[in-house]
This record gives sequence, C-alpha cells and structure tokens, in this order.
Amino acid sequence: MEKILITGGAGYIGSHTAVTLVEAGYLPIIIDDFSNSDKSVLEGLKTILNQEVPYYEGDCNDQALMKQIFSEHQLKGVIHFAANKAVGESTAVPLKYYRNNVGSLVVLLETMAEFGVNDLVFSSSCTVYGQPDELPVRETTPRKEAESPYGNTKKICEDILADVTKSGAGTRIISLRYFNPIGAHPSALIGELPLGVPANLIPFVTQTGIGIREKLTVFGNDYDTPDGTCVRDYIHVLDLADAHLKALEYLNDKPGSFYDLFNVGTGNGNTVLEVIQAFEKVSGKPLNYQIGPRRPGDVVKVWADTTKIGEKLNWNPQFSLEDALRDSWNWQLALSKK
Ligand code: WQD
Repeated sequence: MEKILITGGAGYIGSHTAVTLVEAGYLPIIIDDFSNSDKSVLEGLKTILNQEVPYYEGDCNDQALMKQIFSEHQLKGVIHFAANKAVGESTAVPLKYYRNNVGSLVVLLETMAEFGVNDLVFSSSCTVYGQPDELPVRETTPRKEAESPYGNTKKICEDILADVTKSGAGTRIISLRYFNPIGAHPSALIGELPLGVPANLIPFVTQTGIGIREKLTVFGNDYDTPDGTCVRDYIHVLDLADAHLKALEYLNDKPGSFYDLFNVGTGNGNTVLEVIQAFEKVSGKPLNYQIGPRRPGDVVKVWADTTKIGEKLNWNPQFSLEDALRDSWNWQLALSKK
C-alpha cells in the first residue's frame, strides 16, 4: 500500500483528503501541529475509515521530526496542506506566516530531496490572482500583487516550487489553486472546525443558523455584481479532496523535474445572497442577517475556468452548492450534539 505524507492532515481539507486517499487504496501518514485543528478529527477518520490513520504531532519546520518521518516510512509522495491561512491575522503577524508557510515548504523540499521522494501536491489558492483581469480565471491569468502576507506566501511558495523544478532536482510537483472550499463529509463526522469567531462565510452562516451567532453580517451589497454582494466559486471539500488524488496519480507517468498548476473550483460563481438563499432552502429555516459595510481587501468577484483540470486530470466537480451547504449544516448540527 503506497504511503502519502499529508502535512496538516488533521485540518479541514487535509482530513477529507485522507478519507479520499484511503478509499483509493493509499495509506496516509499525517503530520499536524494541531494549532488549527483538533485531535477529535482523528477519531472521526477512524470511524469513517474503520482504521487508524497514523499521525505525528509536530511542526513541518522541525527538520529532525521530518527526517524521522521520512526514515520511518517509504513515502510515495507528499500533499502539503500545513500552513496558516487567516488573511487578517497574516497582516498583523506577517513573520509568523513567512516562517511557517514558506519555511515549512523549504524544510519539506530539503527532506524530500534527502530521501529521494519526488512527488508533491501543493495547496495553493486563488488568492494569488487578487481581483483578476479576466473572468473566469484561467491558470494563465496573471497573478496580482498579494492582498495580504498570507496571499504572498502562496505566491512565494509557487515560485519556490518552480525554481526547484528548474534546478533539475527531479521533483514532480503540482500546485492546486483552491477557490472557496466548503461543505463536510456526508457522515457529519468531520468538517470545518474554525477556532473562535469564523472569518469565512459558511461556518459563520451555519453557526448563525444553529444560534451560536446572533446574525450574519453581509460585507457590502453595493458591488458591481448581480445583487451587489461579492461573487465566489464555492467548491465542496470532497471534490477538492478528489482533485488531490487525481493530481497525485497524474504525476505517476511524468518525467523528473515536472511542475504544473491547476485551478480547482466548480467554474460557477455565486453571490453571498445566493448562498444565503441556498442555505435557507437546505436548512428549512430563515437566516438572520444584515447588510454591513464592505470588508477591506475583499475581491469583488472571482470564479474558476476549470478547463485545464478537466482535460488534464479528468477531474470534474460532483457536488452542487446546495449539496455542500447541506453537508455543512449537518456537520454543524452534529457538532451541537457533542
Ligand atoms: C467569502 C465571501 C465575504 C464572512 C478567504 C481567503 C482565501 C481562502 C478562503 C484560504 C466574501 C463574504 C464572509 C462574513 C460575509 N482561504 N462574507 N460575511 O475571503 O473569499 O477567501 O477564505 O485559502 O485565501 O482569502 O472567503 O469565506 O472569508 O468570504 O459577507 O461574515 O463572503 O465578503 O465575499 P474569501 P470568505
């Protein structure tokens, strides 16, 4: 059984990807520092998979730990999720983001080279496009000046991967530029676990729906969009997990020193108000919200052109916005019972 190291594997996207990998016959090995995830996720994985997923608690910047993992397991490849991702926090403490997000990638790449592990799928983000010049966004759409240190770390990491490839290191790498991941595993045993007040829309919506939050504030309705609210491409986390599996397998017949990148979105854009309407439909209850001021730094509208990933990786999203909101809501209901 081929082993895949999942850094940040106890996180939201990492844990769902662990499920997908096991179901495809791989054995994931998780490393996570649990700074933005919870050990209960490992219990959820065990229940879903009926098997333990081996894990190490620690920091990907810890070179000794990374060497230990690579020496204890013959790894087929790595999926690198581990990073801090709070846009607002990154502006307040940029060095935490550069050390963690960029530093851990360098340590990972050095360790992969030392142990002859060549295959890597990297978690990038549509944030590298900023407010794109063209819509839908293609992989050839120019990247923009980062809106935050978080976004800049993603751009820098992509550049590091391109430079390592050019050096002829023999690595085979894919960067996946996520749009907006939402939803949860249909079992409601794993899902998004924001610590504190959610920054992202969907957890705030479900927490409002369950009564944890009094009301949702829609950040502006005076934008140049169909109903004045921002447009995003919301993709089910299981569709995103499947994209990582297909990316890993796409690398299998590639020559050494290979690098490519793909957008991973549904190809559809939805406004915040459309998301609220869809949530009210799947939850069967009205959502308490108000229109508030714009959030600084928000991109007005962004959604993916998914032609490239469809053609090259034979990947297509299977879940709708309503499917994802239903799964997010069921997860929130399950959380409230814990
Ligand atoms: C979505 C829309 C808000 C909360 C960020 C990062 C991106 C990625 C995903 C890591 C926007 C609106 C939100 C609320 C609202 N993170 N909103 N009220 O900003 O598109 O992307 O998270 O990879 O890199 O930038 O996601 O969920 O924060 O916002 O009206 O309480 O919902 O204005 O239009 P975003 P989001």
